[in-house]
Amino acid sequence: MPKAALQIIRDEHAAVSAVLRSVLQMLERDPDEEPERFFDVLRAMLFYIDEFPERRHHPKESDLLFPKLARVAPELMPVIRRLEEDHLQGEQRVRELQHLLLAWELLGDGRRPAFEDAARRYVEFYRAHMRTEETELLPVAQQRLGEEDWVQLDAAFRTHCDPLASGDRDPIYDRLFTRIVMRTPAPIGVGPA
Ligand SMILES: [Fe+2]
Ligand SMILES: [Fe+2]
Repeated sequence: MPKAALQIIRDEHAAVSAVLRSVLQMLERDPDEEPERFFDVLRAMLFYIDEFPERRHHPKESDLLFPKLARVAPELMPVIRRLEEDHLQGEQRVRELQHLLLAWELLGDGRRPAFEDAARRYVEFYRAHMRTEETELLPVAQQRLGEEDWVQLDAAFRTHCDPLASGDRDPIYDRLFTRIVMRTPAPIGVGPA
């Protein structure tokens, strides 16, 4: 039987990966030509990461998936502890990035390197986190969790899905996605180059 939760986790990781990649691609560009749009797009991307992956995806893993896995696969405890650490740090780190971006925008290019360094480290950190979950936890979950666990996990992951990953989205997110996708300059997004 297909496990909806597993697919949703992978889809949500793919959506975050796409946004992280776009953040890096934006850094290859120069804000000078159209600074307002440049910063607006980056701000929207960081807001998205804070709003969905940090506040919805991670809590579902921490509160539901990790405890279930710890029960059936105690040998995974060291990995689970590390991932849990990441979840605790993640929100703080993305807030820090939002602050560094604002510093670059308001105080000028002298503050660009600090944002760039932090952004690159954050992308690395986040990619490694998702890779570990996908390679070390999800296959074990698939093998060892029981039907009752999947009923709970599927139900939890089906609610408050990441709207960028799920496709069927509430119109309240339209403005956010317009900024991330439509205003982001091509070829990163579909906005004017
Ligand atoms: Fe996670
Ligand atoms: Fe995850």
